[in-house]
Amino acid sequence: MFKPLRIGKVEVPIPIIQGGMGVGLSWEQLAGHVAKEGAIGVVSAVGTGYRHPNLVKRDRFGRPIGSVNVHNKEALTRIIRDAKDISEGNGAIGVNILAAITDYGRVVRDAAEAGADLIISGAGLPLKLPEYVDGYDVALVPIVSSARAVNLICKTWKRRYNRLPDAIILEGPLSGGHQGFKYEQCFMEEYQLENLFYEVLKEVKKWGNIPLIVAGGIWSYEDIKHYLERGADGVQMATRFITTYECDAPLIYKELLLKARKEDIILLKSPVGYPLRVIRTPFIERLLNGVNGWNGCVSNCVVPCNKGEEAKKVGFCIADRLGYAWLGDYEEGIFISGANGYRLHKQGMISVKRLINILTGKEEDPTLK
Ligand SMILES: Cc1cc2nc3c(=O)[nH]c(=O)nc-3n(C[C@H](O)[C@H](O)[C@H](O)COP(=O)(O)O)c2cc1C
Repeated sequence: MFKPLRIGKVEVPIPIIQGGMGVGLSWEQLAGHVAKEGAIGVVSAVGTGYRHPNLVKRDRFGRPIGSVNVHNKEALTRIIRDAKDISEGNGAIGVNILAAITDYGRVVRDAAEAGADLIISGAGLPLKLPEYVDGYDVALVPIVSSARAVNLICKTWKRRYNRLPDAIILEGPLSGGHQGFKYEQCFMEEYQLENLFYEVLKEVKKWGNIPLIVAGGIWSYEDIKHYLERGADGVQMATRFITTYECDAPLIYKELLLKARKEDIILLKSPVGYPLRVIRTPFIERLLNGVNGWNGCVSNCVVPCNKGEEAKKVGFCIADRLGYAWLGDYEEGIFISGANGYRLHKQGMISVKRLINILTGKEEDPTLK
């Protein structure tokens, strides 16, 4: 059995964090059920206006208007409250907030006010994160992809706020969604998780006894053991949770993953400025054939996109396309996956409870047969 994971005041018996998955794969159902099993369930704070459309102002196509509606406070508050209800007081509930979103500071505060146990933040360096939670007792966990980023965050937080991260997540380039690397680096040996790990562990431990969590391509009980034996304190996993009954994604998303082959999972340029790992679907095929699918900026969702300027260049709006996927639109949506998504067909649809049993070595892993 594994050792419990302690992050600030949060302590959970199972050292697994279910990674935040936006838009809409990890809301109250997935996060709540993961927490119920004694791990950390993470709610995604992006695009919450899609979860509770009746609470927000939308255009005639159903798209939330402006960042106040797309990353909506009331919707996030309800999701966190519902996740906590489902957890029945077990585990912990974190909130994943992309550092690149418009209104980042406001959304961090919304999450803290709503009672998040921890805030996990990547896709950009969350250098100002502590500023937004002043007065709230919430653990802060940045996601990084290098030792340099650890140093910069710790140095800046120590100097400005006299505080250090409560844990750090190192995410390698096999993860789902945005990658903290250049496109070519994602395929280079020296940038793989295994090779980044020791340098980052050394840097983290220079700053004190900060727990280090690893992510990106972690798949099995053996993988988890591998990193825990080498000094990691926990793992963050996302892709394996998509084909659980409780994952908040629509059925079509799960079915798509159950059919995905290795070559169907590719990296694309995203308006956020990082490579984005997705599954080849009709919209992606059109995009790769030169079709520009940008339909104007309504949500103003991420800062680096510059109100649609980058979206126009790469040919799609990230909020709209992830929103279509959440609505189950196979033709128009963009469907994110980690590099291991093609292994899910061996797992099939299972419950969170069974997946946690598999990952903690209590049940046999059907994907390793
Ligand atoms: C569908 C999907 C959506 C994701 N969305 C986000 C997100 O909104 N913010 C974020 O920080 N990470 C996001 N991630 C990354 C995960 O939180 C996680 O760290 C990563 O996928 C771990 O690798 P794995 O999927 O191989 O387990 C996403 C991953 C997936 C598969």
